Amino acid sequence: MRIAVAQMDCRFDQPQHNLQRARALLDTERADLWVLPELFSSGYLFSEREQLERMAEPLDGTIVSTLSEWARARGCAIAAGWPERAGDHFYNSAVLVGPRGVLAHYRKIHLFDRETLWFQGGDLPFPVVEYGGARLGLMICFDWRFPEAARTLAFRGADVILHPSNLVLPWCPEAMRIRCLENLVFAATCDRVGSEERGGHALRFIGQSQVVDPGGNVLGRLAEEEGVLAVDIDPTQARSKQATAHNDLWADLRPRSYAQHPGD
Ligand code: ACM
Repeated sequence: MRIAVAQMDCRFDQPQHNLQRARALLDTERADLWVLPELFSSGYLFSEREQLERMAEPLDGTIVSTLSEWARARGCAIAAGWPERAGDHFYNSAVLVGPRGVLAHYRKIHLFDRETLWFQGGDLPFPVVEYGGARLGLMICFDWRFPEAARTLAFRGADVILHPSNLVLPWCPEAMRIRCLENLVFAATCDRVGSEERGGHALRFIGQSQVVDPGGNVLGRLAEEEGVLAVDIDPTQARSKQATAHNDLWADLRPRSYAQHPGD
């Protein structure tokens, strides 16, 4: 399976530009599976609800149907993030589409910082779906900070974690190596680059999009500029949880020995 991440500079409130830019990057490589950034169609730094009301779209809106069209035309799957409108609620969502339409839909559970002002916390389970002989899971950006997110996807059978992101903190790329190692899964993090300044707040996005294997090895990592990274992986490598001759990570779990959750 050839997996590619399209790291781009998303312009705030310019969905047509962002769609064109994403499509141009998709046209530079052939891949079975693509990952685009979190909120790729809208940009990130919302400062008023009205902006979200203007840019958010439902699952059956133009953004997701355009992604589905691209997937059908290319015979591939595409994961991407967009601001979702669902009735009166807004979610920081991601979708995985294939040639026949939507395969998986996820609403970011662990919202980062000021996202909590605009978005509802996700109310859908972490999804894992079969596509092209692989089991694909979805999480979004700051979900990396909670090992439970990747763990849950791995417990549900994910071979590859697709991870649309808008990273502003430096630790995620290295942390995702550990998420892969502790769960023996692949992960493809697609970040964005560029900066946004609005409403008295400024953010710079770190790039560093990457694909990591179940050994925690970085198969490829971009710098802080627009571009595509494509690598060939065998997703079935993630099916064995054998860490040494005498350690199967799932069989060795000892849930009765672990501390209770602080909220219990
Ligand atoms: C983030 O979750 N976008 C940092």
